[in-house]
Amino acid sequence: MNRLPSLSQLPQDRLFRSGDVFVLFGELFGRGYATGLVHEARAAGMEIIGITVGRREKDNTLRPLTDEELAAAEANLGGKIINVPLMAGFDADAPAGEPTPTELLGGMTLQNWTTSTIDWAQVERCRQVGTERFRRSLAEVMEQLEGMVANGRNVFFAHTMAGGIPKAKVFLAIANRIYKGRGDRHMSSQVLLDSDLGKLILQNFDEVSANTFAHLIEGSAGLRQRIEASGGQVRYTAYGYHGTAVLVEGEYVWQTYTNYTQGYAKMKLEGIAQAAWDQGIRATVFNCPEIRTNSSDVFAGVELPLIGLLRSLKQENGGNWAQTQWDTCSNLLADGVTLDALLATTERFHTSEVMRPFRNFDAWPMPNTAAQADLTIGTSDDIVRQHKDPKALITDVLSALVVESTGYLMFHTMANPPGPVLWLNHDIIAQQLNQVHA
Ligand SMILES: NC(=O)c1ccc[n+]([C@@H]2O[C@H](COP(=O)([O-])OP(=O)(O)OC[C@H]3O[C@@H](n4cnc5c(N)ncnc54)[C@H](O)[C@@H]3O)[C@@H](O)[C@H]2O)c1
Repeated sequence: MNRLPSLSQLPQDRLFRSGDVFVLFGELFGRGYATGLVHEARAAGMEIIGITVGRREKDNTLRPLTDEELAAAEANLGGKIINVPLMAGFDADAPAGEPTPTELLGGMTLQNWTTSTIDWAQVERCRQVGTERFRRSLAEVMEQLEGMVANGRNVFFAHTMAGGIPKAKVFLAIANRIYKGRGDRHMSSQVLLDSDLGKLILQNFDEVSANTFAHLIEGSAGLRQRIEASGGQVRYTAYGYHGTAVLVEGEYVWQTYTNYTQGYAKMKLEGIAQAAWDQGIRATVFNCPEIRTNSSDVFAGVELPLIGLLRSLKQENGGNWAQTQWDTCSNLLADGVTLDALLATTERFHTSEVMRPFRNFDAWPMPNTAAQADLTIGTSDDIVRQHKDPKALITDVLSALVVESTGYLMFHTMANPPGPVLWLNHDIIAQQLNQVHA
């Protein structure tokens, strides 16, 4: 555990103040991680600026937001949105008159996808078109942003983009089986990665979840130089995932959701931050805990480690406020079910012979197995069933707390960031929450 660069102390320095500019590089969703950062930026009195990924028409063309959509997005963000579509990935791009990667997948079926091949020269042409489109749009965004940031201001860029699942019917069915299938419906994630379909998807994940961070850092070079020359500072953050250390049998141990197919892209993201850091640019990837959001809900069982945060809240100097969180969560459980019983279930899950081999940092992201998928998904289902209402879960309460805490930790750590990659584990999250609510 010690070899992971993890935040171990609450940040003390302060940099951002009223009049500084916060730029959200991705759209804001109600439960999303970015709400925590936006909250801190607003509390510091910063001006908030956002972007949009745009919207696709039925004929696949990418358009900016309509006036109505823009007004709704700006109200949601509490700031101005630069209305140039920044959809990343090349799944729906192609040179004029040629098929897009999503169309190339159109002929695949659940019967033939493992042996179907893809024309890689065509994929490469599409990738270039998609990347060029993104970079051109980004240049337009930066041109508008230039006019919105005065000399001497500090600027905080928050990257949140992750995704890249192509809208191909066959893949939606496969994803359902890899991330949610048990027994007869189980599907091996390794079979996906060994297929042409899987290799294409990994490339698109790289584009969306990793390369966009590099494009952002490169595309804002002019702004960064002007700001730094005028006495301001520029920071970049991105959300990573590379497992989390959580309390298991009284100790913080690293564990991970399996199979995290996007893990290769997340490691690439870490590499991009490292390369920027080596050039003196303050860019930090924060590897964040598993929570439930619009994006993570496809991964059944991803929320299991989050339940252990309850124990950390008590262990890390928890007082009345920590007890209130226990009570709130306890009230969501069905009659006769206790939090202690639930925590014993997740502890059994983590320490089981099935899950132990997956605590292998060097082998990450490991492929799933039938037994592991069965246990992960089964435990998740069992826990949901022990609630009064399957739509009001203790992981909703705990996800919101993690969003709040990571927002604080990331925002203030960037005043004086210690390195390009930092894990935010349950210990520091519980410490921050206990301190701020004391
Ligand atoms: N939820 C988790 O458990 C978890 C854990 C660690 C890290 N993260 C990371 O946190 C970040 C925010 O995710 P979240 O879970 O809060 O979900 P979210 O759904 O709120 O955010 C996803 C973001 O990705 C953007 N996005 C999606 N597809 C895109 C595309 N094709 N082009 C450009 N942007 C695109 C969206 O606009 C949005 O800003 C992501 O980088 C995610 O990987 C999430």
